[in-house]
Amino acid sequence: MSDAPIDLRSDTVTKPTQAMRRAMADAEVGDDVYGEDPTVRALEERVAGMFGHDAALFTPTGSMANVLAVRSLVAPGQEVLCEARAHIVRAELGAHGALSGVTMRTWRSPNGRIAQDEIEELFAPDLGPFFVATAAISIENTHNFAGGSVVPLPELAALRAFAEGVGTRIHLDGARIWNAHVATGVPLEEYGAAVDVLAVCLSKGLGAPVGSLMVGSADAIAEARVWRKRLGGGMRQAGVLAAAGLHALDHHIERLAEDHEHARLLADALGVDPETVDTNIVAVPHDDAAGFVARAAEAGVLMGTVGPRVARLVTHLDVDRAAVERAAALLAAL
Ligand SMILES: Cc1ncc(COP(=O)(O)O)c(C=O)c1O
Repeated sequence: MSDAPIDLRSDTVTKPTQAMRRAMADAEVGDDVYGEDPTVRALEERVAGMFGHDAALFTPTGSMANVLAVRSLVAPGQEVLCEARAHIVRAELGAHGALSGVTMRTWRSPNGRIAQDEIEELFAPDLGPFFVATAAISIENTHNFAGGSVVPLPELAALRAFAEGVGTRIHLDGARIWNAHVATGVPLEEYGAAVDVLAVCLSKGLGAPVGSLMVGSADAIAEARVWRKRLGGGMRQAGVLAAAGLHALDHHIERLAEDHEHARLLADALGVDPETVDTNIVAVPHDDAAGFVARAAEAGVLMGTVGPRVARLVTHLDVDRAAVERAAALLAAL
């Protein structure tokens, strides 16, 4: 048994498997700014097809994919509506305002889902030179800071109907859409059909070291390609990274079910309501979350916080069943 701490801070801490490293080493590459990297192209075409959209664009990070995707819908001085703990409003360091001139207003939902009535109240039509106009509504699925919760498809369909009725569009932060797909069985294409543009990550539960994609219409992707370069995200022989992503799509989607089972096991050991655990993230209510996290670290389990009264555990590819059981026993003892 290893003495190394069991790292449940995030599903971003995984290291590439040997098989993934081999795929990276063997990748055919070219200069992707010239559009000559065959592996990047293959990844972009494959991911666009998975979501039933025209095209996709490989980006270094999910944050950049979100910035490009939101700005494809929202002009400077317009707004996007999102949930109050959405990654785009809390954790992208103000990029949408600082770089795209986008403002945001938020609704609050305890599980990060779609608060349809509140969204309808927030929605601001373009009334000329008086109010900020709502150009898009953003959904996060699964919702990270709400504990990996899944946004149910019927809620998304109702939002879609509303958006079409009022002429606004929908952005999906699908950093963990793969987890939603595996947890619910909803095809990725159905999630794709419910939104205008989305961002997906290969570097979270799928275990790639780097890489995300913006997915959308051919026009939106062509424009985003220019903006990606402007932001410093034009990459050259990026096929070595895209190969990791292709490998992850082949081998690491279905196995997310294991991470979800591990999350339920941890929730059970900690007495967390299983109804709050949809995927691979466990939000652990605690009066002193930081203190609990510090004691857990001393005991050999690394976790994080998502606020003063919520600790967070995230299961992933690099913690197997034995490690999860050990973590569960150590945490239960605390
Ligand atoms: C929901 C969500 N969206 C976007 C991102 C941004 O991804 P990146 O860290 O690659 O910028 C994250 C990162 O954890 C996330 O959890």
